Amino acid sequence: MKINPLTCSIGAELTGVNLADVARDKTLFAEIRALLLKHRVLFFRDQDMTRADHVAFASCFGELEDHPVANTVPGHPGLIEIYKSEKRDHFENTYHSDASWRANPPKGAVLRCISCPEVGGDTIWVNMVEAYRNLPEEIKSKIAGLRAKHGIEHSFGAVLTQEEREELVRKNPLVDHPVVRTHPETEEKILYVGPFSTHFINYHTPENVRFGQDKTPGASLLLNYLISQAAIPEYQVRFRWQPNSVAIWDNVATQHYAVSDYWPAPRRMERATIKGERPF
Ligand code: SIN
Repeated sequence: MKINPLTCSIGAELTGVNLADVARDKTLFAEIRALLLKHRVLFFRDQDMTRADHVAFASCFGELEDHPVANTVPGHPGLIEIYKSEKRDHFENTYHSDASWRANPPKGAVLRCISCPEVGGDTIWVNMVEAYRNLPEEIKSKIAGLRAKHGIEHSFGAVLTQEEREELVRKNPLVDHPVVRTHPETEEKILYVGPFSTHFINYHTPENVRFGQDKTPGASLLLNYLISQAAIPEYQVRFRWQPNSVAIWDNVATQHYAVSDYWPAPRRMERATIKGERPF
């Protein structure tokens, strides 16, 4: 196996690996798992694997989950369709950590390209450990101990009817997570807010709020400042897809953005999402 780091901050391409073998090779799995914790996202080319192989590889990392809105690939629980056609239905072109609206958000995901436009449709990943590490010290102390709500309604719910949206929220109520979470395996601190974050729940203290202007407008400015950190190129890697390219990412330590610059060309991706634990 050859390891080719793609930036100084995040991402490596591995060659000489057949992902369909990993489920049967404990040593290879341990190596890939360690590299994932180090590089945060790993890329592989020419993985002409079956859907069962895709699910088996992702399942080495833990149990898989489906999605309340995206379709599951028929006959393959744990594998969801991210299929884009001439219908303009893009949700993923925003910096996000997958499903942070869950009480236990996924710890990782394995995405395989089935087909993609010749040009366009890249995905960007961001190292959110770096994003936290580089924050000014005064911001770090301001956000220590802060918690933010995360919800599904204002993203995936926006195109649903009122009744469907209410049902979505009943099944996926708002959850709150620490703004700075700790990686359960590496113990690194991670900036953990994104487009699913709606508001802080414990900001209204005498230190933070002197007048009404400090409250909702002040808190929103701080939340937006934190959310905007993912857009800093120094924390990013950008990957150009080909059919049978695969990416696996650490969904705790990273965010990603699927660039939607290819419409109306089709793009078909399949994602196996690995269950995670409650952020702390
Ligand atoms: C996702 O947001 O998980 C999908 C990323 C992509 O389609 O490139």
